Amino acid sequence: MASNLYFIGGGNMAEAIITAVRKHDDRYPVDHIYVEDISEARLSYLEKTYQVTPATPRDTPDNVDIAVIAVRPQDDVTGVATSIVNRFDQRTTSVVSIVAGYTIAQLERTLGGERRITRIIPNTLTTVDYGYSGVSSNQAAADAPDSVRKGLDAWLSTFGKPLHVEERLIDVITGFYPPNLVYHFIDAYVDAGVLAGLPRDISKAIALDTVIGGTELLKQRDVLPQVLLNINNSPGGVGITEAYTLNKTGFAAAIQSAVLAAVERTTKLGKEAQ
Ligand SMILES: NC(=O)c1ccc[n+]([C@@H]2O[C@H](COP(=O)([O-])OP(=O)(O)OC[C@H]3O[C@@H](n4cnc5c(N)ncnc54)[C@H](OP(=O)(O)O)[C@@H]3O)[C@@H](O)[C@H]2O)c1
Repeated sequence: MASNLYFIGGGNMAEAIITAVRKHDDRYPVDHIYVEDISEARLSYLEKTYQVTPATPRDTPDNVDIAVIAVRPQDDVTGVATSIVNRFDQRTTSVVSIVAGYTIAQLERTLGGERRITRIIPNTLTTVDYGYSGVSSNQAAADAPDSVRKGLDAWLSTFGKPLHVEERLIDVITGFYPPNLVYHFIDAYVDAGVLAGLPRDISKAIALDTVIGGTELLKQRDVLPQVLLNINNSPGGVGITEAYTLNKTGFAAAIQSAVLAAVERTTKLGKEAQ
């Protein structure tokens, strides 16, 4: 099942995917990784660090199984898609776009409906083997031979758990699950410990273990947080006092507003993309 991958855009996300794919070579052995980027400095960094082959639109190899569009929505996504039409044989190359907000319909307008197109939204937790990849495909990809679909899924599973969803949910997943919210929470939590008098290193150590341990317990019990909060928040106790204070400050609404805004921004960026 060894395969050839071609990335257009060698930024942070491409790097995270390359790292994860290399790490899980047993699941998806790679023959060759090519990367094309407008920054020469970036290409030589990737070549030196990951032994990938720098490529340009003028010397595209003819044996590519998966071409990944990994530029930003603000970049010339349509220009990149147009260049794919002329360079990659649609019988052999599946196109995978990780561009947030840029729809399959937008891609099909340039690439054509016969081309196998898959949209995925990975996140940076792929490098530590966590995180789902929201996945949605066009009809041509869904109708592809078993070997092609299985190959694509094997590749996807090297950098996240593939979650096949209707395309309308892709923007929701994009806004919902990058780890930033968790970083914001931990940042505030560590500061809270410091505010209350703990040295910062102790506060950080406790905060990280509490987040990991709390998550593990929820997974093991397979329950929603409300179940454990109900156990922890005894009448008139410390836990319910903390919960009351959080409610007064609009904690839940702040998180929910942030996620809704992130989802809206994702959709807007996709609409604005060229
Ligand atoms: N980061 C995440 O957590 C995440 C998660 C899910 C999806 N995504 C999506 O993944 C995509 C890439 O994100 P990223 O964080 O990796 O961005 P990034 O680090 O900015 O990488 C994009 C790279 O593409 C290059 N580029 C721009 N136009 C190009 C072109 N026409 N041909 C070749 N290379 C070109 C850029 O070069 P210059 O910098 O020199 O312009 C840059 O090196 C985005 O569409 C984003 O929506 C990101």
